[in-house]
Amino acid sequence: MNVQRNRVSWFSGVESRCEQPTAPHRAYRLVLLGPPGVGKGTQAELLCETLGTCHLSTGDIFRAAQCEQQPSPALQRALEAMRRGELVSDDVVVSIVRERAGCLRCRGGFLLDGFPRTRAQAEALDVLLGEQGVTLDAVLSYELPLEEIVVRLSGRRTCPECKAVYHTQTRPPRAEGVCDQCGGKLMQREDDRPESIRIRMRAYEESTRPLTDYYESGGNLVPVRASGTPEEILARSLDSLRERFAGIGLNGA
Ligand code: AP5
Repeated sequence: MNVQRNRVSWFSGVESRCEQPTAPHRAYRLVLLGPPGVGKGTQAELLCETLGTCHLSTGDIFRAAQCEQQPSPALQRALEAMRRGELVSDDVVVSIVRERAGCLRCRGGFLLDGFPRTRAQAEALDVLLGEQGVTLDAVLSYELPLEEIVVRLSGRRTCPECKAVYHTQTRPPRAEGVCDQCGGKLMQREDDRPESIRIRMRAYEESTRPLTDYYESGGNLVPVRASGTPEEILARSLDSLRERFAGIGLNGA
């Protein structure tokens, strides 16, 4: 199965502009947790291709907003925080997700990547899910030693046009510096500088790692070892989901 979802609603915040194909299967509603650079975006892409879910990344929204001509003062402050590697404030993040809450009812299901990141955001998500009349199926929590994460982050290159993610060593594009998918010029993210990486790791340890306890106590946590190739980690993720949803097909995967 390979359903490409256009994510127009997620980026624009205007629900009616999205034209999602009807899911021919169970719609999975998942959260991806894990430190910066562990490979959440890479897994999100592969999981979405396999499960037909829609990839909802808050980081992608902020990076897209960097191109806006006149960002609002609140958005400007959010972008400054992001460049430094700090977390954007809960009220800004929650209001942005709230504007897009209709995406939580996406017919193909969803894969939240980068949200929630704090206890307050997790509680806000619970409220939004309740308002939309949907429930979370699982929280995939990826773990990897710090030294491997730093290697992944320092070699990352991204396409600002189509958001595709590459790595100079482990996932190079066919032509150096050029996106395979759309021909865009690949860039290094500003927050992949060593100082920003340190700040992001600290923010993760202080604010996001405690969410594993939050979701474990709710019975939703599915830990996944994030070493190996992206395909090996995908297989591990799908195995964990199969185990959790024994008897429920994973769309031929
Ligand atoms: P966000 O975009 O969410 O970034 P992040 O969580 O820091 O995660 P990354 O995108 O850095 O890494 P990833 O785990 O997706 O790894 P990837 O697949 O790219 O957030 C950015 C910023 O926005 C935050 O710092 C914050 O300021 C703000 N923000 C966003 N949401 C927020 C929120 N809810 N609250 C507050 N602030 C928020 O992989 C990394 C590299 O490794 C790539 O090059 C990839 O090709 C490579 N790779 C992947 N898998 C493998 C593998 N198996 N083997 C070898 N290489 C691999």
